[in-house]
Amino acid sequence: MTRKIIIDTDPGQDDAVAILLALASPEEIEVMGITAVAGNVPLALTQKNARIVCELAGRRDIRVFAGCDKPLAHTLVTAEHVHGKTGLDGIALPEPTMPLQDTHAVEFLIETLRQEPSGTVTLCPLGPLTNIATAFRTAPDIIPRVQEIVLMGGAYFEVGNITPAAEFNIYVDPEAAEIVFKSGVPLTVMPLDVTHKVLTTRPRIEAIRDLGTDVGHAVAQWTDFFERFDMEKYGHDGAPLHDPCVIAYLIRPGLFSGRHVNVEIETMSPLTRGMTVADWWGVTDRPRNAMFMGEVDAQGFYDLLTGRLARL
Ligand code: RIB
Ligand code: CA
Repeated sequence: MTRKIIIDTDPGQDDAVAILLALASPEEIEVMGITAVAGNVPLALTQKNARIVCELAGRRDIRVFAGCDKPLAHTLVTAEHVHGKTGLDGIALPEPTMPLQDTHAVEFLIETLRQEPSGTVTLCPLGPLTNIATAFRTAPDIIPRVQEIVLMGGAYFEVGNITPAAEFNIYVDPEAAEIVFKSGVPLTVMPLDVTHKVLTTRPRIEAIRDLGTDVGHAVAQWTDFFERFDMEKYGHDGAPLHDPCVIAYLIRPGLFSGRHVNVEIETMSPLTRGMTVADWWGVTDRPRNAMFMGEVDAQGFYDLLTGRLARL
């Protein structure tokens, strides 16, 4: 059963690998469109990077839309220190020639959810949740029509990566995250708790480089670049490959396990802004709104990723 998805993204090398994995998996996934949001780098770069990745995959047919260029209530925080100035540092790829769609990403989200049969479109946010929250605020009628949201964001036992308390995607736009987490849409969350378990170790990256393709080379170059920051910080023999966890879940959900719990977003405190407060032990009667993943078969994840990238 092919799942229709919209990828909402702020490429970012790990976003790029997630997009490639989705485009390499047509039996399981139909990519209805890609909506770019400001996050790792500004919107002008994320919308361009999304098109660069589609062209690398030979998919000039994919519709790419530009969305919100700043969070709902805060000034934009970016992550060039991790992803480089372009957001896709590690390899120089040709400027995109495929067009950016004229329609705003938020409009595309609303139109698609209204046109497709209710409950048949999954949203896959890989960056700050600004586009999704803006669509929900603008057109609340689409909220019950969303099949599921499978997102990369948040952290609980693994604590924060941009502040001691918060993970980057949620930190950048906590008000947007609050709208999404309170929306009532079925939510599957890939937090740092699980993405920090899929590390880009040398054997795994060499297996991708050894594919001997442009895609394999680009992915290996991207990970060589962006892993240096996290390896220095965490002292691990590899960096977390965050965003492809979302797509791998759609293809092979059994790779992951977690707990259905209440997760709420801190929006008031400067100290803990963007923290995902997970009621892991059920000490409150707050509604359980999120499947919060914590475990993953890391080698199974990389075997799947490498096997699918080989198709491109
Ligand atoms: O904290 C990791 C997340 O922030 C990933 O989605 C990465 O691409 C950045 O957006
Ligand atoms: Ca991202």
